[in-house]
Amino acid sequence: MDYYTIRWSDGAVSLIDQRVLPHEVRYLRYDDYRALAQAITDMVVRGAPAIGAAGAYGMALAAGQSMAATADGVRQDLAVAAEVLRAARPTAVNLGWGVDRVWRCAQAATLSDGAAVRAAVLTEAHAIAEEDGRINRAMGRNALDLIPQGATIIHHCNTGTLATVEYGTALGVIRAAHEAGKNIHVLVDETRPRLQGARLTAWELQQLGIAHTVIVDGAAAHMMRTRKVDLCVVGCDRVAANGDTANKIGTYHLALAAHAHGIPFYVACPTSTIDFTLAHGDLIPIEERDPREVAVVAGTQLTPDGTAIGNPAFDVTPAGYIAAIITERGVARPPYVDSLAALRE
Ligand code: MRU
Repeated sequence: MDYYTIRWSDGAVSLIDQRVLPHEVRYLRYDDYRALAQAITDMVVRGAPAIGAAGAYGMALAAGQSMAATADGVRQDLAVAAEVLRAARPTAVNLGWGVDRVWRCAQAATLSDGAAVRAAVLTEAHAIAEEDGRINRAMGRNALDLIPQGATIIHHCNTGTLATVEYGTALGVIRAAHEAGKNIHVLVDETRPRLQGARLTAWELQQLGIAHTVIVDGAAAHMMRTRKVDLCVVGCDRVAANGDTANKIGTYHLALAAHAHGIPFYVACPTSTIDFTLAHGDLIPIEERDPREVAVVAGTQLTPDGTAIGNPAFDVTPAGYIAAIITERGVARPPYVDSLAALRE
């Protein structure tokens, strides 16, 4: 595939603009961390692992923008940047995780001056970006036994290269199965309101040569009842210690429908998406986005003026509906309090 999600080049961050895909492929360049934070909020870049890497590179930009000569001076500027970047989107834990990882590495006592902190921060941001593809491929390998030959798979949102730095999480699992010759077919939830499935997942699957059919979100249960659907696999933005999982709005619906039809529902995520500080999913912050994302479609307002609109961007699927959580370290099964803790060790 000849596109990339995020790349560092010549002291700036380059992002594919996911708001205009698939009909326009354009890259935007950011050399200011505040502008990058805004790009995360506006979903120029989106998907939990991708915004984790973007947050880390945002810290590298902030270090470069700092005029301080001393290590502590750069750290002070980084502390401000970390707050701005973390606040760009609330639900995906990877954003804070990427920012914090870089922040921690900036604290090393051996960093004697501002230049040393700048170099260390950039090295750590590169490490986060580089390990992403390896982690996603490992997830794909770990999931192979879960995907039957000739499987029909329902997928929600976009979890491919565009949602990560490389390869994808749930779409990485699908991609690994395809590469292993499993002859799969993907039913792609269009994913209202931002249509990540219809616009981004369909675009990625087309380029990968993986058979797929886009369906409206409301069609998933009908497909399960009337056709052979073997499994669902989705990505996620935050998993609580008990396995409750926040992902794109509509995921919970899909999990309920899968449960009703006895179809296994899998979640794929890197271990960096597991938030062991939260005991259960009710503690996960859910982003509420601009009502216009729902009201306005392709530039035309569909709802009557003044209509009240709710636009939660994520929902939480209780762990009881999840058959397994696929990570780079292995496949966790219920009870997740124990199996996720074991993966952590
Ligand atoms: O609002 P988005 O598009 O950032 O939401 C993305 C998702 O919900 C993905 O399923 C999740 O981040 C996993 S991506 C590998």
